Amino acid sequence: MPKDQSDVWWLEKRTELLEIAKHNLNAYVYDLDTVRAAAEKILSLNSVDRALYAMKANFNADVLCTLADSAIDFDCVSPGEVQRLIDVLPELDKSRILFTPNFAPREEYEWGIEQGIQVTLDNLYPLQAWPEIFNGQRLFIRVDPGEGQGHHEKVKTAGKQSKFGVSRSEIDDLVRLTEKANATIVGIHAHSGSGILDPGNWRTIADELVKVAERFPDVTVLDLGGGIGVPEKRGDAVFDLDALNERLAEFRSKYPQYDIWLEPGRYLVAEAGVLLAHLTQVKRKGDMRYVGVSTGLNSLIRPALYDAYHEIVNLTRINDEASESVTVVGPICETGDRFGTDRLLPPSQENDVILIGNSGAYGQVMSSRYNLRETPPEITINSKE
Ligand code: LLP
Repeated sequence: MPKDQSDVWWLEKRTELLEIAKHNLNAYVYDLDTVRAAAEKILSLNSVDRALYAMKANFNADVLCTLADSAIDFDCVSPGEVQRLIDVLPELDKSRILFTPNFAPREEYEWGIEQGIQVTLDNLYPLQAWPEIFNGQRLFIRVDPGEGQGHHEKVKTAGKQSKFGVSRSEIDDLVRLTEKANATIVGIHAHSGSGILDPGNWRTIADELVKVAERFPDVTVLDLGGGIGVPEKRGDAVFDLDALNERLAEFRSKYPQYDIWLEPGRYLVAEAGVLLAHLTQVKRKGDMRYVGVSTGLNSLIRPALYDAYHEIVNLTRINDEASESVTVVGPICETGDRFGTDRLLPPSQENDVILIGNSGAYGQVMSSRYNLRETPPEITINSKE
């Protein structure tokens, strides 16, 4: 994890990025060395038995291959994601895939079971309405650990306001329904939100899950979900993985009978990706100074949707003093098409290359063709061939 400006990968690989920008008006660039380094950090957690990449964060083929080679497994939320994984990695053992749809139609559960992949239910409805599908099946159950966490209201995935998970008050019904359907619960799962910086979160989830697991004698896995945060600004503290490891090690010593799984998405890919664009126009309006760039919320919606902070630099003039306070906007016809407000950039000119950092997660995958502007191509760089 970079700690300050000097070890951000995109500064070291600046020449390569500027060369890419010569041939592409806009581009997502992913540094596979950085993906690999993040995977190694997660895999070094000796209190975690398996890490599954939440591939919704970025399903670029090279990224998926890099993670699979690093012995990371996969969490998929739709048949499309599973199919994508199989297309990119036809040799991947099905036991490395967890399928966690929510509010999905009946056919998707039937399909998941036919594929022989581990299916997670996150509601009682499938067991009530279609028990025959689950006859003889080994299932995971997503429960609601009670309190949502995360960098924005919209990414909190637990608690009363969230649509996810079976609540504690429904566990008696769950026991009855699984028995009736002749299904076996083998894993208990929860995911409380995204962008969480408190390492205690996963211990709290584990403590909640164990209460549910104790009701199901065949449970061997507690899947604590993803959500491990990434620092927004340079200089912000990095996520304390050692503290996470310690908290989970304490838990394991109390409950050695369970395997612990994690499902990081953003942590594995966010810092590895940057969005490159070109400066198009500058403008002064009243007190405001605008810098326009060649792509907008159609490529990266996080600032508009969650007020997410993404670092913005002028890559062409990286050594010039960042002395002007500007608002950086895209070409989309929405006032919310703004990558950052009050950002310091050096005096900049048309065609300068502008880099938007931490864009490897939930960037390209959430992009659209709004205003009929094309989404940027994805380019991967890698020092290991
Ligand atoms: N597991 C489950 C069941 C999930 O629903 C998610 C994310 C993850 C794992 C991975 O969470 P992560 O480690 O990436 O935080 N678009 C939002 C994030 C939405 C996350 C949805 N679920 C953003 O850009 O911040």
